[in-house]
Amino acid sequence: MSEIENIAKQILASGKGILAADESTGTMTKRLASVKIDSTPETRIKFRETLFSAEGMKNYIGGVILYDETIRQKTSSGKTVPELIKSYGSITGIKVDTGAKILAGSPNEKITEGLDGLRERLSEYYNLGARFTKWRAIYNISEKYPSELAIKSNAHALARYAALVQEAKMVPIVEPEVLMDGDHDINKCYEVTSRVLKECYEELKIHNVNFKGTILKPNMVLPGTKSKNKANAEEIAKMTVKCLKENVPSEVPGIAFLSGGQTEIEATQNLNEINKINNTNFIMSFSYGRALQQSALKDWSKNIKNTETTQKIFNHRSKMNSFSTFAKWSLSLENQKNT
Ligand code: 13P
Repeated sequence: MSEIENIAKQILASGKGILAADESTGTMTKRLASVKIDSTPETRIKFRETLFSAEGMKNYIGGVILYDETIRQKTSSGKTVPELIKSYGSITGIKVDTGAKILAGSPNEKITEGLDGLRERLSEYYNLGARFTKWRAIYNISEKYPSELAIKSNAHALARYAALVQEAKMVPIVEPEVLMDGDHDINKCYEVTSRVLKECYEELKIHNVNFKGTILKPNMVLPGTKSKNKANAEEIAKMTVKCLKENVPSEVPGIAFLSGGQTEIEATQNLNEINKINNTNFIMSFSYGRALQQSALKDWSKNIKNTETTQKIFNHRSKMNSFSTFAKWSLSLENQKNT
């Protein structure tokens, strides 16, 4: 097995998932402001280090996605962040896109940028300790959107990104995120997610990307946040598994969902239901940002010197999501806070 195929497997091995801690400085500043903490390089690394040095990292987190600032920061023990992550048995990843910008030709939609100079940046990130990467494309659902242009141009960029990352001997996480905003129902989300995924894999194939050395990070198939027709976890799981089975090549080793604005419990419960009925070859796991960090951040903001309870909360969330990868999560486990 090639090195990158090995890395992809390791990241999601035995009930592990990914901690997406790659919020850009702008996004992190918003997250910190929501709990009334000033955003400085010091507060940003302090919160992140609290999570990266929690016990839960060892058994439940196979990879951590970082932002450019973080991969260059030193931790309180003097170790670099990638060294700290490695010492917990986890693998360092890095967000390499430079954000979603207005799409020329369809100005209400977005195209993700970051291809210029990417080869050189990848080589630098490899030397800093990264072994996998992330690139996120976003798609809005409305009557008119996403347009064919948004679907095709983002798929093309994702494929060029993935090919460059594999050339640099790292695993590309391919993240086409169909956003939850809107009043559409679950069927519409299923239809759009299917179109988006189909186009992505056509482009990845054209660019000779080795599917076995990739991880897909998709949205779950959900009704829009303003939809009148809610869906329960069983329906969400059914539609999500069907969509992935129909559109993702079976060589892809693992799928790690984003949480996308679901609550912590929703994200855990939906993943659990997905794994109950997972009859595919894919490992189905998590790559959560908000759904792993929200409660921990709230707790941390009460007293940023008391890292112990913050770590307990993070350990618990990671463990609950790990249970879900085995379809072994339940509400009663959720309530045993000290396990
Ligand atoms: P959320 O789980 O908060 O959606 O973040 C995942 C992510 O990395 C988005 O790009």
